[in-house]
Amino acid sequence: MITASPVAAIRVEQLAKVFGGLRAVDSVSLGVSPGERRMLIGPNGAGKTTLFHCIAGTLQPTSGQVQLFGEDISRLPENRRTALGMGRTFQISNVCIDLTVRENLILGMLGIDRRKWTMYRSADSLSDLNEKIGTELERVGLVDKVDETVKYLSYGERRQLELALSLASQPKVLLLDEPCAGLSPSERQRFSQLVKDLPHHITLIMIEHDIDVALALADSVTVLHRGKIIFDGTPGDVRSDAQVREVYFGRV
Ligand SMILES: Nc1ncnc2c1ncn2[C@@H]1O[C@H](COP(=O)(O)OP(=O)(O)O)[C@@H](O)[C@H]1O
Ligand SMILES: [Mg+2]
Repeated sequence: MITASPVAAIRVEQLAKVFGGLRAVDSVSLGVSPGERRMLIGPNGAGKTTLFHCIAGTLQPTSGQVQLFGEDISRLPENRRTALGMGRTFQISNVCIDLTVRENLILGMLGIDRRKWTMYRSADSLSDLNEKIGTELERVGLVDKVDETVKYLSYGERRQLELALSLASQPKVLLLDEPCAGLSPSERQRFSQLVKDLPHHITLIMIEHDIDVALALADSVTVLHRGKIIFDGTPGDVRSDAQVREVYFGRV
């Protein structure tokens, strides 16, 4: 009998990524519902970033499948996945530091705008673009920095800009890989609040090192260890799970 089940925003089936002899991601299957906030945690080297790379298309998995809203995207290149609604920021800063905040956003938006080669022919298009830039900067709290050169922004502000850049592609699913890494406690708190306030039409999968930050944001938690999922459940259950305690909390 076929049972109807709601289409997952992201479904990963039996995914593996092998580097030489190392199974960095090993038979991972998971489903993330539309609008869900899923936190992906686990010790260093667990395979979290590699899993993200396979979902985003930066890396081709060795085997297995990735679906975006029911569509098999496993063989699509990264830019096609972006066009279908997969957004991400990177662990390593990827903004142009000699350009202003506005210029970075213009570049980011033109990258996904089909009108890119004709954009400057129309004043309407330009004001449309400026309005979009205003909206994204408001969302991430950077409106007053629109004409600042990025190299003069604080580290936390650069992270906010990266988030604005990801949002500019109007993602349906957003992958954030340790966005709070390197931030001061107050910047971390500010960034968490921005993530919390993201609209719920965006499904969020976030890798977060700080367990308190992760659990405060999570609807659900997946714990990865040595490439395998060892826990998939609610934030309330994760701290009491015996295997998680052993491999994750056992270190503290
Ligand atoms: N491009 C690569 N080539 C070879 N090994 C890699 C590569 N990327 C990651 N690894 C290895 O795969 C494992 C998982 O890495 P990673 O996904 O970065 O873990 P995490 O993000 O959980 O810290 C680690 O042992 C890492 O050294
Ligand atoms: Mg990583």
